[in-house]
Amino acid sequence: MKIAVLPGDGIGPEIVAEAVKVLDALKLDLHLQSAPVGGAAYEASGHPLPPATLELAKASDAILFGAVGDWKYDTLERALRPEQAILGLRKALGLFANFRPAICYKELTHASSLKPELVSGLDILIIRELTGDIYFGQPRGRRSAPDGHFPGAEEAFDTMRYTRPEIERIGHVAFQAAQKRSKRVTSVDKANVLETFQLWKDVMTEVGKQYPDVQLDHMYVDNAAMQLVKEPKRFDVVVTGNMFGDILSDEASMLTGSIGMLPSASLNDKKQGLYEPSHGSAPDIAGKGVANPLATILSAAMMLRFSLGQEAAAQKIEAAVQKVLAQGLRTPDIYSEGTTKVGTQQMGDAVVAAL
Ligand code: NAD
Ligand code: IPM
Ligand code: MN
Repeated sequence: MKIAVLPGDGIGPEIVAEAVKVLDALKLDLHLQSAPVGGAAYEASGHPLPPATLELAKASDAILFGAVGDWKYDTLERALRPEQAILGLRKALGLFANFRPAICYKELTHASSLKPELVSGLDILIIRELTGDIYFGQPRGRRSAPDGHFPGAEEAFDTMRYTRPEIERIGHVAFQAAQKRSKRVTSVDKANVLETFQLWKDVMTEVGKQYPDVQLDHMYVDNAAMQLVKEPKRFDVVVTGNMFGDILSDEASMLTGSIGMLPSASLNDKKQGLYEPSHGSAPDIAGKGVANPLATILSAAMMLRFSLGQEAAAQKIEAAVQKVLAQGLRTPDIYSEGTTKVGTQQMGDAVVAAL
């Protein structure tokens, strides 16, 4: 089984090193090969997603990805910015289905900024469409405004769009995931304002009729953002578009204690997948050895489960993470009184020991 390891920028290399340590400790027959991506690749070869990195990713069964980005690249032309690497990989591999499970481990009930009773036992699955929406819609650009209040003024524009098949396929993913859980799907849209999300809602309703055992409800995204912090346990599977899913998943991460706990899997229709933490390169803490590696380690568990057919090994990792949390070890982002503060490497070592 071939795995492309793409550490990237900021805390990316630090957290990926810990996930690799955990994979090595499982002694499975995995072939890991690293390649540069993001700002690191731009520095080395002038492009954030060099052809050799893309080829390696395409030829692998799965990709373990760290994070990309740094403020110092914010003035580069867009095509050369580190973020284009992850967007390019998602598009090139057709990774349309993004799973972001927000699970509050019982040991972290007090790490959340929300009241413990709101988050204890929380287990939500956010399913984010990942290759469409305003992220990829054309046309986009800057120009001199042809009309409106200020004709001739500089303006910028992006296009929000979805096709019916794109909505159908992510809908099927969501309903099938719900069938294995508590059989409830909340589809999050903005159909009261946007044509794109009226189509989204109509198609979700139609797809839902093929899953009579699953209860579907619809919620506007602004209300969903509010309900996530008011009564998060009302949700089970949440399915939404690319941009709303980006925002709601970062919000949901705080229900688990920290964004450093939220793994992610991005799959195509061949079950080839890219596995990365939901967070970014965290330039503010990079190089300090304090980043939480658990989201990346849990992403590696999802990789074993979804792309490599190694369910037992995935469960081993998840159990080891739980054990380490029960031992009271905490990186600073999930620290609370009475627990023991550790760094990135110590956390990774502890997971290996718990295996
Ligand atoms: P971020 O997720 O990198 O960081 C947000 C906050 O969360 C920071 O305070 C950071 O220190 C903290 N944080 C993130 N991960 C953590 C971890 N594992 N442990 C402890 N604390 C953690 O978001 P940002 O600051 O908005 O973006 C920084 C850069 O990352 C930008 O260039 C952005 O484009 C990029 N980014 C990349 C990805 C990706 O590679 N998939 C995802 C999100 C953001
Ligand atoms: C994420 C990130 C990316 C996104 C960026 C870095 C392109 O925020 O994976 O959530 O917006 O999808
Ligand atoms: Mn994001």
